[in-house]
Formats: sequence, structure tokens, C-alpha cells
Amino acid sequence: MTRDRDIAAFDERAGGYEGGWLGRLHQQIADRTADLALAVAVAPEPQRVLDVGCGTGYLLRELAGRCPQAVELVGIDPARGMIVAARAAADDDRLRWMEGTAEELPFPEACFDLVVSTTSFDHWADQQAGLAECARVLVPGGRLVLTDLFSGWLTPTLVGGRRHKARTKRRASRRLERAGFLDVQWHDVEAVVIRTVTAARG
Ligand SMILES: C[S@@+](CC[C@H](N)C(=O)[O-])C[C@H]1O[C@@H](n2cnc3c(N)ncnc32)[C@H](O)[C@@H]1O
Repeated sequence: MTRDRDIAAFDERAGGYEGGWLGRLHQQIADRTADLALAVAVAPEPQRVLDVGCGTGYLLRELAGRCPQAVELVGIDPARGMIVAARAAADDDRLRWMEGTAEELPFPEACFDLVVSTTSFDHWADQQAGLAECARVLVPGGRLVLTDLFSGWLTPTLVGGRRHKARTKRRASRRLERAGFLDVQWHDVEAVVIRTVTAARG
């Protein structure tokens, strides 16, 4: 699937995205990601939060509810339908939504202390550029919490389809380190292959 078709597909799915078993699975993954993000050792009291590839905004709504001290929580996604749905479901004045991609984040340097992303990284056209952007917008010491499909090894089915994507822990760790992240730590989340990686901006 080309990049434009990938985003167009999310655009079309936006209306019913939070329904059904797949919607519930995404919410479970987001809940677990929120738990890991707000853990004492990660970012227990973030002030400014960015969700990259936010979809309909479930994770940011959860974080807003659990972070009374947060000043601003921003979601960005290239699929307009997702942003429209996120705005419609938003229930907190601190939530803000924008169209855009991980590879070109429209923010100045060092303006977030927590960047989160769930099941979006595998769709980024240029993962290395996206990670570099996440590092750029984080304050020094700020945290990235990234959840996606990551296996412990590269199975044959993963090699063909998305050769340029980091779908193993090893390859993703290398990309994070190349983007300037330190303290890379892995956490199991769901069904053996859904994992979260946490890292600090150096
Ligand atoms: C499977 S959905 C996940 C949405 C949401 N984070 C969740 O967990 O439910 C993947 C999202 O990534 C977005 N996406 C695709 N390419 C992207 C890019 N280059 N940068 C940021 N987000 C992207 C899609 O538009 C889509 O909303």
C-alpha cells in the first residue's frame, strides 16, 4: 500500500475506528501505554504531551483525565478524518489537534516533556526522520513512549512486506539511539508482539 493510500484508508475508517473488537484492542494498548508513560521512572507528571499518529485521540483523552497538572496535550495525525473525530470526542480544554506527520512536526525545539505514540510507528514513511523529530521537540531528559508491533526476531513474513520498517526490538533500538535517545527499555504489552519502548532524549 502506498503512503497516500495508507493515510486515505485511515481517513475512511475514522468514523467507526473506536468501535468493535479492534477498537477495544487499540484502547487496551493505549491504556497500557498510558500506565507505562505515567510510571514513576518515566514521566509521572508531564506538563506538555504530544501524541504522534493520535488517530481519534483516545490515548490523549485518557492522559488528560489522569494528568490534572498537564498544561497542554496535543495530537497530530495526517488523516483528516481522524483529526475531525478526535476534535468531536474531545472533552477537555487542554486537548489540541493538528494534521501533520511524524517526519515534519510543526513545533519548535524542546517544547514537550512527553511524546507518546501507539500503533502508528509502523506507518511512518521515514521512521528515522520521525524519531529525529520526536527527539527534537522533546526537552533534554524528556521521554518517548512508543508502542507498536515489535518481535524479538525478524520472521520471514516480516522481511518481504516492509523491509525498511523497524519491526524488531534490535532494529528499533538502533534507530532510537541514532536519533539521540538514551536509556532504551522494552516492555511487553499485548499478545507477545505488541511492545512498548521507553527512551529518554539525551
Ligand atoms: C493504527 S492507527 C493508530 C491510531 C492511534 N494511535 C491508536 O492507537 O488507536 C495509525 C495512525 O497513524 C497515522 N499515521 C500514518 N502515517 C503517519 C505518519 N507519517 N506520521 C504520523 N502518523 C501517521 C494514521 O493516519 C493513523 O491514524
